[in-house]
Amino acid sequence: MNRWLSVLAFLFSLGYFFVAAIEDEGYDEGKERYSSSTVGLLKLLKLEQKFVENLIANEESETIKAYLFSIDYKKNQSPEERLEYVSNPLSAFSLVRRTHEDLPKWNKQFQKEMELTNKVVLDELVAYIPDSQDFLEAALGIQRIERIYDLRIDDLAKGILQDKQYSIRFTFRDRLAMGHLMFKQGDFLAAAKWYRMASKLEPKEDNKILNKILGDPTDILKLQYLKALFVYASVFSGDSQNNDEALAKVEKKFADIGNVDIDEFYLKLTKPENDIELEKQLYETQRPSTDFEKGCHGEFQSKSRLTCSYNHTTTPFLRLAPLKMEEVSRNPYIVMYHDVLYDSEIEVLKGQSDGFSNGFADEKNGSIIRDIVARHVWWSEESPIRERINQRIIDMTGLNISITEKIQVANYGLGTYFKPHFDYTSDGFQTPEVSTLGDRLVSVLFYASDVAQGGATVFPELKISIFPRIGSAIWWYNLYNNGTSDTRSKHSVCPVIQGDRWTLTMWIHLFPQMFKAPCLI
Ligand SMILES: *[C@@H]1O[C@H](CO)[C@@H](O)[C@H](O)[C@H]1NC(C)=O
Ligand SMILES: *[C@@H]1O[C@H](CO)[C@@H](O)[C@H](O)[C@H]1NC(C)=O
Ligand SMILES: *[C@@H]1O[C@H](CO)[C@@H](O)[C@H](O)[C@H]1NC(C)=O
Ligand SMILES: *[C@@H]1O[C@H](CO)[C@@H](O)[C@H](O)[C@H]1NC(C)=O
Repeated sequence: MNRWLSVLAFLFSLGYFFVAAIEDEGYDEGKERYSSSTVGLLKLLKLEQKFVENLIANEESETIKAYLFSIDYKKNQSPEERLEYVSNPLSAFSLVRRTHEDLPKWNKQFQKEMELTNKVVLDELVAYIPDSQDFLEAALGIQRIERIYDLRIDDLAKGILQDKQYSIRFTFRDRLAMGHLMFKQGDFLAAAKWYRMASKLEPKEDNKILNKILGDPTDILKLQYLKALFVYASVFSGDSQNNDEALAKVEKKFADIGNVDIDEFYLKLTKPENDIELEKQLYETQRPSTDFEKGCHGEFQSKSRLTCSYNHTTTPFLRLAPLKMEEVSRNPYIVMYHDVLYDSEIEVLKGQSDGFSNGFADEKNGSIIRDIVARHVWWSEESPIRERINQRIIDMTGLNISITEKIQVANYGLGTYFKPHFDYTSDGFQTPEVSTLGDRLVSVLFYASDVAQGGATVFPELKISIFPRIGSAIWWYNLYNNGTSDTRSKHSVCPVIQGDRWTLTMWIHLFPQMFKAPCLI
């Protein structure tokens, strides 16, 4: 007999009912999204640090101590340490969660408990905390990392990302929040796994103060854990057709049940011998990876090195200063260049981040939430640096660039990515350039940072992945010689696992090539 049926039978016998109520705020696309870029996350970290600095200007109390302990506050962090902190998905999620969920409660308590000298400043800072959409997106970023890289939630919670053990762990409240948000997303298996991990953390010494101020979620954890397990088990065992039906059953059958029964079942569930069995079952099903995911894992066999050479031929300039070129693929033609973006240029392009807006992986469709890709900005003002980069693109490609062409600067954040897509306009992109300059013939992508883990560019059809290397660039054709779309150019960006990913992208359009490459039109 399927073991899930026995779990189910047990749960049914309890007849328990609970519906999670998580309210929705409206979705405002113009709002700051801290989680979708390291630039945004750094801003959020700064906000929290300002709050702390203003707070500790007051007399120190037990509550303040508990607060500082709960956020693992470290004084005088260097810019590098701060970047390292937000570049890790676990600490980034923790930061978003605690500022979203906890900070207003702490603030309220401080205001009530103490004579604060700078009340107004603290209130003002709290007004800028991440909203619930940002919080959800942070959780979706973690979910994306988990799924695309096929990580175990057990490992994630303990700070193991792929083969690397980080010193950062998800706290009890982080794990619980992941459970709630996965539950809300209808991913009951993930919710059960996160609740299970939450159940494993012993209450800490500072528990009393924390529970007093932030609320004691133990009962909610028990209820939600059982409920997530029930829905998953009910669908998995075939007892329900789908999640909705299973949820309806929960409502119907678990109508009136006492806390005593819940406690008892929870206790049984979390007994080591039962937990081991449960763990096995939770991780039983395995989903085969897509080609995109395989590319993200770095599973594609690297093509036997084609050629690596200095290219002297494209423009007269290259005869004097050849560029280091590596062929990635001959058909379709994809090449990589090394050392084609300099540190001084990278500094300037990062300075463009003030104008960041959200980039989305999908076209907006009604009220459906779009996956945020990254934060990006169009760098269009003319400058000597822009001209130098343009010239380098001309040297690399031998193609003609319109002087009006914009460059896109992008910075990625917590699990942000770009799902497989095409750059040519028949894929639905409507840019003003296309009507005057023609379709996007070539895409040029510069890597303006190294990425410690994840963040590859993947061509799933071609089974090619390219991992970012600072100062390198790749370019490829999106169209065939005759101007029609080349579907092999489908590409995607894997979520960053750990790191600070910056890219610079430019598209070379068709019409300006008229005199350069006459066979194209
Ligand atoms: C928009 O979403 C609806 C379902 O919510 C779907 O039927 C429709 O095809 C979508 N349209 C586009 C352009 O994706
Ligand atoms: C140099 O790059 C241009 C443009 O991609 C290409 O046509 C040419 O074949 C390359 N030269 C060598 C020697 O690889
Ligand atoms: C354009 O070229 C591609 C590749 O050579 C070919 O498959 C396609 O049929 C051509 N399309 C037209 C309209 O000529
Ligand atoms: C480059 O494109 C521009 C139009 O954007 C055109 O005026 C110019 O003649 C082209 N140059 C070459 C060398 O093809």
